[in-house]
Amino acid sequence: MEFTQAIAARHSCRNFLDTPVDAATISALVEMAQHSPSWGNTQPWRVWVAGGEVAVSIRQGLVARAAAGAPPVPDMPMPTVFEGEMKARYVEVGRSVFAVLGIERQDEERRNAHRTNNCNAFGAPVLVYITLPDGLTPYAMLDAGAFLSTFCLAAADRGLATCIQATLAHYPDIIRQHLPIPPQERIVVGVALGHADSACDINRFRSAREPVEKILTLTGF
Ligand SMILES: Cc1cc2nc3c(=O)[nH]c(=O)nc-3n(C[C@H](O)[C@H](O)[C@H](O)COP(=O)(O)O)c2cc1C
Repeated sequence: MEFTQAIAARHSCRNFLDTPVDAATISALVEMAQHSPSWGNTQPWRVWVAGGEVAVSIRQGLVARAAAGAPPVPDMPMPTVFEGEMKARYVEVGRSVFAVLGIERQDEERRNAHRTNNCNAFGAPVLVYITLPDGLTPYAMLDAGAFLSTFCLAAADRGLATCIQATLAHYPDIIRQHLPIPPQERIVVGVALGHADSACDINRFRSAREPVEKILTLTGF
């Protein structure tokens, strides 16, 4: 696939088929992502991947904990409030996703079902966790973000679907029950990985972007 096509193809998949992804493919994606830049080539990221029954157990654990009403206790602090234009975009993407799913604002039952589905990684057969060692500066998150981006693009290049999900990192103790992540490694985020169910509307949804002129300042040209 052409690089520009891979960029266009990547989107957050919110309905996966249960078709498995083999370990060799996942290794190849990680190898591609290893090309990402990092501060002083420190490569602070580690990648922990759950497949098969391990992924199912983590998904079930996350769903059960959320259903019990437990507040998230992520290793990395997560934003809860946005202001101004960012708030508007945040609200808009959530509203659009619910609209595509046909979920009314007052339909608490289906809204909760969507939240459950989020914890269930939208049915993805593979969960990919990115960790960073404790005690690094915020620049390490930039490194992890670069890695994450390359990983998702490499997946798109192979026709695989991803959804980066903070939700998958809400309960680190559950993840650590199933993956050997030591306490000094902090879980940054999870990525749902698999094959998209491309027949469903939610996977045809594409989130909006601001026009380039709004975010770009060119000087001296
Ligand atoms: C750090 C991060 C955390 C995210 N967490 C979630 C999540 O928990 N659930 C979800 O459905 N999407 C999540 N997303 C996906 C974003 O909503 C999505 O990237 C954004 O709306 C842009 O859409 P696109 O990825 O389809 O281009 C997350 C994205 C990022 C980068």
